[in-house]
Amino acid sequence: MTQSRYTASTGTLRTAPGEDGGTDRPSQVPIPEVHGRLLAEGLGEVVFELADVSIFYGSYQAVREVNMTVHSRQITALIGPSGCGKSTVLRCLNRMNDLIPGARVEGKITYHTENLYADYVDPIQVRRRIGMVFQKPNPFPKSIYDNIAYGPRVNGVRKGMDDIVEEALTGAALWDEVKDKLKQSALALSGGQQQRLCIARTIAVKPEVILMDEPCSALDPIATAKIEDLMHDLATQYTIVIVTHNMQQAARVSDRTAFFTADVDGEGVRHGRLVEYDVTSKMFTNPSDRRTEDYISGRFG
Ligand SMILES: Nc1ncnc2c1ncn2[C@@H]1O[C@H](COP(=O)(O)OP(=O)(O)O)[C@@H](O)[C@H]1O
Ligand SMILES: [Mg+2]
Repeated sequence: MTQSRYTASTGTLRTAPGEDGGTDRPSQVPIPEVHGRLLAEGLGEVVFELADVSIFYGSYQAVREVNMTVHSRQITALIGPSGCGKSTVLRCLNRMNDLIPGARVEGKITYHTENLYADYVDPIQVRRRIGMVFQKPNPFPKSIYDNIAYGPRVNGVRKGMDDIVEEALTGAALWDEVKDKLKQSALALSGGQQQRLCIARTIAVKPEVILMDEPCSALDPIATAKIEDLMHDLATQYTIVIVTHNMQQAARVSDRTAFFTADVDGEGVRHGRLVEYDVTSKMFTNPSDRRTEDYISGRFG
């Protein structure tokens, strides 16, 4: 396996000159204006392109032939009933599925025109660029400070750690609440604070993309509202993909929404598939597919 060279300036994993792979270009997708944020240059560029992506656990095809694009500095929501493959699709965007024995991806996923699953791509580098926040807040049993400093230290950062910690906590809207107790255990924070800490820990290593798998489902409505506000702020700098089973949340926070469902095949096996993907306002007011309409109107799922 050849080593990949990581270029922070473009946020891509590039091969060294002369190496093979990563030359495909994503197709051009029209970019609508959302939340008035697409007027600035560079917004809406394709970050991920999934082409005929199927995902297996052993011989079980959990997700079938997904085609979609994820755009820069937008919030893309994945919605649909339980078991339709939302988490499976999310995890394949930063190669988290690699950690599950038997998990396998077919089709092509590009990250900035590069094949995310090419042999030369280092999954550790991928996860550094594409961070993840989970359903249950999972701070390390360490101080607030050490939770945030952990990633930068692993990456070899030695200087300016106080500034990095402050910046990350400020970015996650947590600084004012914790600045006087940075040496206290992160486990003593409330659930909502712990989730913002996990977001701070993710942004401390300066990723480009943040994947969130039902980040509010363990939180009360006030903590949820704080995270949703935070997501809006983060989307000015980061590309966010969120799985949520809360349709109101998808409607409130996201720019684009992908609706997944599970079909039963001739043998009675359920396979997740992408039914419809569009700008969120269209998905929630004028969906093209009857199944989307039934789901968002609460008739199903
Ligand atoms: N680690 C795994 N091993 C085997 N099957 C799995 C694994 N994770 C998920 N699945 C199966 O894949 C399908 C999709 O699951 P998942 O992506 O978790 O759905 P969702 O997030 O939409 O609820 C389900 O049938 C689930 O049982
Ligand atoms: Mg899930």
